[in-house]
Amino acid sequence: MSAVVIAIDGPSGAGKGTVARLVAEQLNYHLLDSGALYRIVGHAAFLARVDMDDGAALAALANTLKIEFAIIEGEENVAVLLNGEDVSRAIRSQQGATHASKVAVHEEVRAALFGLQRSFAKVPGLVADGRDMGTEVFTDAPLKVFLTATAEERAQRRYKQLRQKGEAVSIARLLEEIKERDYRDENRAVAPLRAAEDSVLIDSTNLSINEVVRQILQHAALI
Ligand code: DC
Repeated sequence: MSAVVIAIDGPSGAGKGTVARLVAEQLNYHLLDSGALYRIVGHAAFLARVDMDDGAALAALANTLKIEFAIIEGEENVAVLLNGEDVSRAIRSQQGATHASKVAVHEEVRAALFGLQRSFAKVPGLVADGRDMGTEVFTDAPLKVFLTATAEERAQRRYKQLRQKGEAVSIARLLEEIKERDYRDENRAVAPLRAAEDSVLIDSTNLSINEVVRQILQHAALI
């Protein structure tokens, strides 16, 4: 019996992370937050002062990292451990997002993370969220979802999240960063962010999280 993969791709802030977790919980599937892997590589490169333009050096670094995901009781997000140290907070900051997007442009880095990502596909199934789950990593997934929302709505959501965490940010600045990141993700030469031809498109701008989850589960029931 092979693992069923549900690929959820889309730009940052479309709600992929929360939706993927809820769908995985409902179906009792495993979960892969592929963005966390790029964030870890970016964070490690920043700490080790590796040049973010040097794809080969970044890939070599990526291959040395011991990455673990841990469920911590009472915590909403899965904790991310790098070489045994909890780096969840650092990688989920705005700076963490920027570093991730810079290292993600390199083919060597993407190749270094490919096998690791594929290894998450275990029975009964996997919900994988990212930018290229349906187009590159799990091209054989029976359900591919492309989840979007307007940049303005995504900036609003991010603003609320960061405020809750006590990070001081301006919404105008966030919107600018989101647009820059979208541009980088959509226009990079390797694995650019785009909807797979066989994906289901969901625009979450005016939908609640529960409604998005409901729609995905409805599609999943038809697999
Ligand atoms: O989903 P996220 O915001 O945690 O992703 C952080 C960055 O990593 C994002 O700018 C693009 C990159 N990324 C990617 O290139 N491919 C993926 N599968 C997931 C994330």
